[in-house]
Parts: sequence; C-alpha cells; structure tokens
Amino acid sequence: YVLGVDLGTSAVKVSAVTPEGKIVAQESVDYDLQQPKPGYAEQNPEDWVYATTVSIVRLILNDHIGVDEIEGISYSGQMHGLVLLDENGKVLRPAMLWNDTRSTKQCEEIMAAMGQKFIDITHNRPLEGFTLPKLLWVKENEPEIFAKAKTMLLPKDYLRYRMTGKLAMDYSDATGTVMLDIEKADWSQEILDVFQIPAEMCPPLVESIEDTGNITPQYAEFSGLSTATKTFGGGADNACGAVGAGIDTPNKVLSSIGTSGVILKFEDDARTNYNGVLQFEDHAVPNSYYSMGVTLAAGFSLSWFKKTFGADEDFNDFVNSAADSTVGANGLLFAPYIVGERAPYADADVRGSFIGIDGIHKKSDFVRAVLEGITFSFEDIMEIYREKGAKFDTVVAIGGGAKSAMWQQIQADIFNTKVVSLKNEQGPGMGAAMLAAVGMGWFKNIHECTEKFVEYTNVFVPNPENVEKYKQLHQTYAKVYNQTKEITH
Ligand code: XUL
Repeated sequence: YVLGVDLGTSAVKVSAVTPEGKIVAQESVDYDLQQPKPGYAEQNPEDWVYATTVSIVRLILNDHIGVDEIEGISYSGQMHGLVLLDENGKVLRPAMLWNDTRSTKQCEEIMAAMGQKFIDITHNRPLEGFTLPKLLWVKENEPEIFAKAKTMLLPKDYLRYRMTGKLAMDYSDATGTVMLDIEKADWSQEILDVFQIPAEMCPPLVESIEDTGNITPQYAEFSGLSTATKTFGGGADNACGAVGAGIDTPNKVLSSIGTSGVILKFEDDARTNYNGVLQFEDHAVPNSYYSMGVTLAAGFSLSWFKKTFGADEDFNDFVNSAADSTVGANGLLFAPYIVGERAPYADADVRGSFIGIDGIHKKSDFVRAVLEGITFSFEDIMEIYREKGAKFDTVVAIGGGAKSAMWQQIQADIFNTKVVSLKNEQGPGMGAAMLAAVGMGWFKNIHECTEKFVEYTNVFVPNPENVEKYKQLHQTYAKVYNQTKEITH
C-alpha cells in the first residue's frame, strides 16, 4: 500500500491505497483551530503530528494494515501556513494558517516595496492568506521570535520533518509562500533581499513525486511504521485535489464547490501570468502549473439560503426544487458576494444581492437563482481563460456541484463545456497517494497513474438553447459587481 495523508484545516485523514487505486482503509482525527483575536487563525503543529500518528496507529491496529505492506507515504497539505523552527528544530510559535488575515499591513508594505516586480516574479499578488506576509508580520511584531527562527516550513512539511528528520518543501506548496521565482523555479533572491529574510530559512525544494527519505527509527517506534517506509514530496491541497481529479492535461478544468468554490485550470507554461487576478501555482505534476480563482461563498451561499429559508426541508429536495423554475430563474439574478469576494474581484467588503425580484417569483426561483449565481461567478473565471485563448473541453465537477444532476447541467450550460464527475470522489488524500504511487515507481508518471486511478461518470453536455440564454444572462450578471459594490460596502 501507499498512504495518502490529507492534512486539512479541521482534521487529518490518512488513506491506505492499493496499486489498483482502491482505498482499503481510512482513519481521521480532528484538531482544534485557535482564534485568539478577530482575524487570527492558528494551530499547534504538534497536534498535526499527534493526529496523523494516531490515524496511522489505527490503520495498523484497528484496520490490520500490515506494517511491511506500507511502502510509501505522501502528503497533501493545507496551504500557506507558517511554521517556524529554531536551531534545534523546535516549533517557535503556533502556526499561522491560510485563513489568518492579520497581515493586511504587510501585504501593503510588500506592494509598496516591490510593486509590479513582485507580481512579475511570483505571478501572484500578496494576499493575507499567503506565507510571506505572515513571516513579515512575525518580523515586525515578534522580533525576538524572528531572530531565533532558523527554518520556515509549511504544515505538511513539518509533519514530514517529524517523520523523517528531513527538511523539504515541494514546489506546489512553495509557490504558495509567494517567495518563489516561478519562472526560475527557485527561491527569489530578490524577494529575500528586499525583506531581509535569510536564505537559510528556506528549505530545499523537491518535486512532489521525489523521495524525501525514510521513516526515522524514533518515529517508527511510536507510530509502529517500518523504517523501510519511504516518504515523497507531496503537494498543496489544491494541487493534490487536482491530481486526484485527473487534472493533468491542459484540456481539463476543475470546478470544486465546498464552502468556498474553486475554478482551477492546468497550465503548461510558466510564463502565463494573470497579474494576480487569479492565483498561479506550481502543480504537483512535474514541470506544470495551475491557476485558480476562488469564489468565497459558493456552497456557503446555498447553505445560508437553505438555513434561512428552508431549514426544515430535505437538502436534495430543496436543491431540486430549482427544476420548478426556468433557465434564468424567471428573471431573478443572484450575486454570491455574501462574505465578500476573492476572484476575479479581490474585495472583502462587497456584499451579495438578489436583483429583479418580481411579484411572480416563488421560492424555487430563488433557489435556482442561487445555483446560477454561484455558477456565474465561476464563469467569470472561465471567461478570463477564454480571453487568454485557453482551449479546454472538459470540466471535472467535485463537491456540491457534482452531487446534483441539475446543478451539473447548469454548469455545462453556463460554461458551454462538457461537465463530468468522478466515479469515486476521494479528495486530496487520493492525489497524495497517487504521488506516492508514482514515487514508488508503480507508474512511469502521473498520467499513467491517472489512467488507472481516475474514472469519470455522469457526462453532461451543453444544451445549445440554454447556452444562448445563459450567455445573455451572464452579461447582465457581469455588471452587478460594479453597480453594487459601493452601495453594499
Ligand atoms: C488556497 C487556500 C486554501 C487552502 C485550504 O490559496 O488558501 O484553499 O489551501 O487548505
């Protein structure tokens, strides 16, 4: 087996996977999130190690996974979290996570110091979520800790360090620090110099499928694992999620609807630059990249609407009631900016709206408008791709948008692209397991592993009549942001 470790924000999930791509056992342990002040989001890195170790022990003890059968391990990690170690490898302060937003001032300082040059190097804008602004926050606010910091790691890389004693960071996660020169595929000396960050703090960069060392005797002792078990680079959770969904060629786009929503596209050219409107990251597939745009309230818009106006109803019935409405929700339009927006508008203060409410509207029109509005916000990202001349023919839907045939059809019609879903959706842990499977040499490369592990089902093709209607409606939707941003701020 290989183990795919999915180190998330609320829990770790460890899956044991066969060379056929079958999950034979899975264990998960939760941990806490500390929010000591508004905007702060922290975790104790030792909780990740503990939770992962308990999950592994359960796989061995409870699920009878043979220790000698666990050949390789790889990791999918929550992105951007800052872990600082001292010269003895001890954690210096709680990790500051991707959803910690205290570093607005540092983001402004980065732009003031480097401006467009920063975007040219990293292909991203500095956002509070990313690692560099957090590191600069520590430098400014906790100088005694910064002075002691010898190593900077991301969450899953700390876990690897405790399991193997080796410092390493794969490219897909490293780009999320916004300290990498993406075209040179190395730490940016210029960024390190401008912000006076010692280069020694940055760990060695590895490929996601690269061997990062065996389990140490000490970790073997408390986990039960064998020292013969190898570990591999792994990747950012979005990269691993994309690998697990088979997003390994330029013709495929991922549409993921969780609380927030993501449109993610495979990219094969390092020179592609969306000027920070979309995030641009190294992929876990060697020599490739991905771009992504985030809708902050995707599934959240629907769950908010359901909780507020249909609390007692069955979730599927509620969603499917949208079938009683029409394409375009009888003229009702919804903009899903209910907690602000990330892409294509980076605006934390804008708020959502229902537009065109008419005396004829029923609740089903509102439900339909919510589903369509979320999908229109994804189409904003798709439009950026089309304007750049990108060619893609398949959207792989995961999460909420893959659970409803009707929503999948709405996506196909709004994107004017075929939409498929996964036969066996397993999330980023499966992507991590695939990286270990390729690292072990079970497959020549990730494409070969995708052929074996990833199967699509539920193919929805665009209905030309609906495509035309949605094209018109999206033009109206695209005006909503500018016309409402001031009055909703
Ligand atoms: C991406 C991001 C989130 C985290 C969640 O930039 O911040 O998707 O990766 O773990």
